[in-house]
Amino acid sequence: MAGQGEFGGFFAEFYDILHAGLSDVEAYVRYASKYCAPPDPRPSGGPPSGDTRSDIVSSGPSQTTQERSRILELGSGTGRILIPLAAAGFNVTGVDNSDDMIALCKDKLSREPLSTQERTRIVKGDVVDLDLGETFDLVIAPCNLLSCVTGPGEAISLLKTAKRHLKESGVFILDCSIPDVPLMVNTHGVTRTFEFTHPLTGTTIIDTFTPRYDFVNQLETDHIVLEERHGDTLLRRAETTQTLAFYFPREVRLMLDTAGLLVFHEQGSVLEDIPLDENAGEMVFFARMAEGGKPVPAY
Ligand SMILES: C[S@@+](CC[C@H](N)C(=O)[O-])C[C@H]1O[C@@H](n2cnc3c(N)ncnc32)[C@H](O)[C@@H]1O
Repeated sequence: MAGQGEFGGFFAEFYDILHAGLSDVEAYVRYASKYCAPPDPRPSGGPPSGDTRSDIVSSGPSQTTQERSRILELGSGTGRILIPLAAAGFNVTGVDNSDDMIALCKDKLSREPLSTQERTRIVKGDVVDLDLGETFDLVIAPCNLLSCVTGPGEAISLLKTAKRHLKESGVFILDCSIPDVPLMVNTHGVTRTFEFTHPLTGTTIIDTFTPRYDFVNQLETDHIVLEERHGDTLLRRAETTQTLAFYFPREVRLMLDTAGLLVFHEQGSVLEDIPLDENAGEMVFFARMAEGGKPVPAY
């Protein structure tokens, strides 16, 4: 399996089990198709493109498709989104600071077609101060990455990282859950247990989860115990405490503005373009450079 980190990759494996089948993956492939053009008209292993790809390319500016297809994923984790993007034909660089997540991502990539592997690059780095010295057509920070950086000013530094890596006409997409305050109040300090079946081994994964919320400093501290069992036999156990920040849309707009990013679209779900209002569960911001940026081409 994945390389051995602090917990032998158990938490990284569990991340994929917890997020298996989520449709945000397809949504990001759609966004990539909208804001940049794949270099290869045929996604790996897929049929020749009859409809969209060549049209997409020809409607863009006079750059080669290769030049219009570079994506940077900040906090690329296990490659849950990165690998399907590469399989769809995009050149994707993923950055993450977790050895376990990177090891699992590389392990999954090694089982992909060579063409997909050749379109990916995984970099170990901190998204707070990353500077690859390169720019991209699309920079993405999916699945609550913003909540993962908790130090003073780090969220703005992360957004500045996104801006630093944008081409003049590049697009930045960020998605984050909107805090569900009633649920947080009701579950503060409450231990809940969730059971999953490991998709590869059929063993039982038991997740014992206790969140605590600091509503003044907008921090969530989760105590998590993972166990893998086969019948009555305990195969693995890992325990951790993680702290996350939570934000509301007004704050994220302000932070994007402070980082020099101009929001040109926002919506209340990663999957569909619904209003970012009291019925929304997520906040998704589409931004470009505020100064020196060019209008965003849609393909
Ligand atoms: C919620 S996961 C999202 C993973 C992936 N984007 C996805 O959607 O499945 C956040 C990822 O960001 C990484 N991460 C958190 N803080 C980071 C930092 N400061 N620098 C680089 N990576 C970071 C974590 O290791 C984790 O893999």
